[in-house]
Amino acid sequence: DEAARSNGDLAGLRVLVTAGGTREPLDPVRYIGNRSSGKQGVALATAATERGATVHLIAANVEVDLAPLLGLPRLTVTRVSSTAELATAVHTAVVESDAVIMAAAVADYRPETVAEAKIKKDSQGDRLELTLVKNPDILADIAAARAERHAGTEPQPDLTIIGFAAETETDRDRLLTLGRAKVVRKGSDYLVLNTVGWSAGFATDVNTVILLSNAGDIVGEASGGKREVADRILDLLRLKHAPQP
Ligand code: CTP
Ligand code: CA
Repeated sequence: DEAARSNGDLAGLRVLVTAGGTREPLDPVRYIGNRSSGKQGVALATAATERGATVHLIAANVEVDLAPLLGLPRLTVTRVSSTAELATAVHTAVVESDAVIMAAAVADYRPETVAEAKIKKDSQGDRLELTLVKNPDILADIAAARAERHAGTEPQPDLTIIGFAAETETDRDRLLTLGRAKVVRKGSDYLVLNTVGWSAGFATDVNTVILLSNAGDIVGEASGGKREVADRILDLLRLKHAPQP
C-alpha cells in the first residue's frame, strides 16, 4: 500500500496530531479561547506525512491555512472547536493510532452554562460573573486508559503518547521542575516543554523546546523553525518504533 511504498523513516506509522486551541462557547456569538495558532501542530502533521507516516490531524481553530495539506497523501484532517469536540474526535481516532501528539492548547475550563441567545448588557449591569467548570484532561485520560489496558504488563508498545507544556516560566531549572512534575502527572511517554509569553512561542514561526521523557530525562532539545522542531519531536517516534537489531 501507499505507506509501505513510501520510504520515509516513519513509513507505516499511524500518527494522531492535535493542533490549535479549543474555544468554549458562552453564547451563540462568543467564546473563551487562547492564543495558540496551531503552527507547531500543523508543522508536525506535515513533517510526519512527508516522512511516510499515515497522519490524522485534528485541528481546533488553527490560524494556519490548511488548504496545502488537504492534497497530501495519507493525511486526514478533522476540524473541531470546543474541548468536548476535540475529546470525542481524539478518543475515536486514538484506537487507530500508533502515536498521539497533543500539541493543541486545550481549555482547562468551560462556562458551566451556554446561553441559548446572545447575552445582553441590559440584563447584566456593571459586572458579569461567569462560572467555569473543569474540562476533562484528554491527554491524562488517554494515558490512564493505556495504563489500564496494560495493567501489570511492561512495556506498553501499542501507543506512544507525547504531550506539550507551554509555560510562562523563563528560568530553565524551574521550567524543568514544572515539566518533570507534569509529565508524571499526565502519564505521557514524553513532554515537549517550552516557554511562552506575550510575544514568544504563540503565533511565531520559531520555537525552542526541551524534550523530556517520563523518567524526567532530557532526551532532546530543539530550536529553530517549527518544521525543524517538528522533525526533532518526530525523531522520538523513529527511535521508539525502529526495528530492533
Ligand atoms: N491537555 C489535555 N486536556 C486538557 C488540558 C491539557 O489533553 N484538558 C493536554 C495538552 O494538549 C498538552 C498537555 O495536556 O499536551 C499539557 O497541557 P497544559 O495546559 O500544559 O497542562 P495542564 O495539566 O492543563 O496544567 P496547567 O495548564 O495548569 O499548567
Ligand atoms: Ca492547561
